[in-house]
Amino acid sequence: MKRHLLSAADLSRDDALAVLDTAEQMDRALAGREVKKLPTLRGRTVVNLFFEDSTRTRTSFEVAAKRLSADVINFSARGSSVSKGESLKDTALTLEALGADGVVVRHWASGAPHRLAGWVAGSVLNAGDGTHEHPTQALLDAFTIRRRLGRIDGLRVAVVGDVLHSRVARSNVLLLATLGAEVTVVAPPTLLPVGLHGWPVAVSYELDAVLPKVDVCMLLRVQAERMSSSYFPSAREYSRRYGLDTRRLGLLPEHAIVMHPGPMNRGMEISAEVADHPSRSTVVEQVANGVSVRMAVLYLLLAGRAEGGL
Ligand code: NCD
Repeated sequence: MKRHLLSAADLSRDDALAVLDTAEQMDRALAGREVKKLPTLRGRTVVNLFFEDSTRTRTSFEVAAKRLSADVINFSARGSSVSKGESLKDTALTLEALGADGVVVRHWASGAPHRLAGWVAGSVLNAGDGTHEHPTQALLDAFTIRRRLGRIDGLRVAVVGDVLHSRVARSNVLLLATLGAEVTVVAPPTLLPVGLHGWPVAVSYELDAVLPKVDVCMLLRVQAERMSSSYFPSAREYSRRYGLDTRRLGLLPEHAIVMHPGPMNRGMEISAEVADHPSRSTVVEQVANGVSVRMAVLYLLLAGRAEGGL
């Protein structure tokens, strides 16, 4: 593995499989324990640096680091000197002085984790940068697919919705291609990025035509906060064309699963019945799997490092 995890493209097929296999081992190692903790990262410091709101990802990284016995420092833009205008570089130098072994960063600017990686000695883990990438989300999605369907190679995956603003989509497309899946992105033309021809995907504007042919239907949140103008006529029109409701669930093959990274706009990209479907929806599993996968990534990036020691 490389020193940092900035992009899903940093992962070779062997790296990605090592993360998924290690996550399985982490799960097994913790399953029988009353105290859900391994001593693996004792004495290491992990800093969670969040410049953008997050529920799942921040808590998931925090739980993962704590289960590996690392010391965890949570640093959010609000309540730190970042709200006084401190630059990313000065924040990085502070982290450096604190001796962070791992820095988990979420930032509204695409590329911020890459800059940070140039300034700190520890490993940088991208927890979502702007509309760019979210590699651990792609890893936990791959883990969830493999657990549910037994493999990833040769599977057909539809990634549906606001691809334009989605770092989840970009990281998933890269990782799924590395792992041998065939991806089709499905969206209105206004919600597809211009540079899409460089992506290893097929494109469709017709959800109903794609659903019968896929093993996985991955829905994306419509990211209203990143939209400065109107990308579709109305929420109703969007869900009529691209929302997954019970009728559309019926178009999927029986074995197919429905995924969503959260947070969900219920009634827009996914209906409440589909989101809560007891066997087809993996939404809650994805969150649970996120902890094991992030434990694996932290372990693989941080545990190998030489001990500082006196
Ligand atoms: C995603 C994110 O923040 O990129 N959520 C997540 O990390 N689980 C997706 C989103 O915000 O829609």
